[in-house]
Amino acid sequence: MEKKKLAIITLGCQMNKSDSEWLAGTLTEEYEYTEDKTEADFLVVNTCAVRDKAEHKFFSLLGTLRPLKAANKNLVIGVAGCMAQEHGEMIVQREPLVDIVFGTRALDKAHILLRKFEETGRPQVDTSYGSEYEDFPVRRESALSAWVPIMRGCGNHCSYCIVPSTRGPEQSRPISNLLNEVSALIAQGYREITLLGQNVNSYGVGLGGGVDFPGLLRQMNPIAVDARIRFVTSHPKDLSDSLIGAMTELESVCPYLHLPIQSGSDKILELMKRGYTADRYFDRVDKLRERIPDLSLTSDVIVGFPGESDEDFEATFRAVERANYDNIFLFKYSPRPNTPAENLPGRIPAKLAQERFDRVMTLQKEITAKRLAGWIGRDVEVLVDGPSKRDTEKMCGRTPQNIVVNFTSGEDFTGRLVRVKITKSGQFSLHGDILR
Ligand code: SAH
Ligand code: SF4
Ligand code: F3S
Repeated sequence: MEKKKLAIITLGCQMNKSDSEWLAGTLTEEYEYTEDKTEADFLVVNTCAVRDKAEHKFFSLLGTLRPLKAANKNLVIGVAGCMAQEHGEMIVQREPLVDIVFGTRALDKAHILLRKFEETGRPQVDTSYGSEYEDFPVRRESALSAWVPIMRGCGNHCSYCIVPSTRGPEQSRPISNLLNEVSALIAQGYREITLLGQNVNSYGVGLGGGVDFPGLLRQMNPIAVDARIRFVTSHPKDLSDSLIGAMTELESVCPYLHLPIQSGSDKILELMKRGYTADRYFDRVDKLRERIPDLSLTSDVIVGFPGESDEDFEATFRAVERANYDNIFLFKYSPRPNTPAENLPGRIPAKLAQERFDRVMTLQKEITAKRLAGWIGRDVEVLVDGPSKRDTEKMCGRTPQNIVVNFTSGEDFTGRLVRVKITKSGQFSLHGDILR
C-alpha cells in the first residue's frame, strides 16, 4: 500500500525543530515525509508562543493554508507545539480549518488522534502531559548535524516567559539513552551533536543517578569521535566552574556558549526572576574568557521590560558593550498571558521600546563586525555543510565557534573537516581559501 504524505511547517526554536523531526519519525510507518505542502495528506504546523509576533505568524500562516484545504478535501491539518499547548480547544473553535491539536507532550499521540478524527469526523484535541520519554526513530533533516534533546520542559519561572507553561515541568532524559543515541549518530556519520534543553545546566536533576551536565559531557566526549558537541541553552545562574572546566578540557566540546543575559540592570533582573545579578553574570563571563580565549559568546537580550528606566536601559547597553558578544538575539518585551510580568506596572511605550531596540541593534552590529574582522589572517577548522547557497562556486561550513565560512576549494568537501585561511569578513560570515 502506498504511504500517505506528511508535511510539517516548523516555527519557533530548535526544540521545535527537534520535535518536528521526532513527530515525523513516529509517523514513518504510515506517512512518507514531503517538502511539498500541496501533496500532503497530513499537514502539521508546529507553533511557537514565546512572543506576540510568533502567534500572529501562526494565524497569518493558517490563512495561506486555506487554499490547500479547498483543493484537497481529505487534507488533515494539525497544530502542534507551544500554541497548541497554550490554547488547546480554543484553536479548533476559532479555526474550523484545524482538525487536530496536540500539545508539546502529546506528539506521540498524533496517530491516535488521526484515527479518532477519521472515525468521527470531529476535531481532536490532546494537551495532556502523559507521555514518557521514549527512544524513537527520528527522521532527521540533516545527515551531518543532529539535535539531541537532553531534557524537556523548564524548571525556572522567569516572570516574562510562557515556556514553563507550554512545555511543562523540567524532566531529564536518562543518560544511557543519550549516550546510546549519540553513539548511533556517530556510527551513522553525524559530525555535530547539539544538545538541547531550556536550561541544560540543570540536566540530571530528578534522575537520581548523581549525574550532572558536566558529567554528561565527560561521558559523551569519548563517544563523539571526530565530532563536535554543542549545547543550548545555558542559564547563567547555574553556570558552574565544573562546566567551564569541562568546556576547557573536553576535545569534542565546542568553544561556543549561548548565555542569555536578558538585562544588564539588577533591578530588572530581579523583576524578571532570573536569579543572578549583572556582577555575577560578568564573573562567569570573565572566567570563561580567561579559560577559553577563542570562545564565541552569544546572548538573548530583552528591552522594554515593564519598569525599565533610562538608567536600567543604559545598564543593558553597557553590558552588551562589555560582554563583546559575537552576536545576540534581541527582543522587545511582549506581555504573555498568565505570566507574572503581564501585570507588572510601568509598561514601556512601543516607541521608546523601539528606540532602545534600535540602539542595541546598532551597537551589536558594530561589535559583530569587529569580532568577525578579528579572524582575518587566521587559519581555522571548518566542518563543511555543503556548497554555498549564494555562490555555488564556493563551499560553506562553520568553525567550532559556529561562525559561517564561505571558501573556495575546487572540490566537494561536504561532511569533512578542512582548514581554511580567512581572507575577508562580512556582516554575518567569513570568507577564505582552503589550505592544502
Ligand atoms: N530557555 C531559553 C530560551 C527561552 S525563549 C533561555 O532561558 O534562554 C528564548 C528567548 O526569548 C529568551 O531568552 C528571552 O530573551 C526571549 N523571551 C522569552 N519570553 C519573552 C517575552 N515575553 N518577551 C520578549 N522576549 C521573550
Ligand atoms: Fe523561559 Fe526562563 Fe525557562 Fe528560559 S529559563 S525557558 S527564559 S522560564
Ligand atoms: Fe520554543 Fe517558542 Fe515554545 S521558543 S519552547 S517553540 S514558545
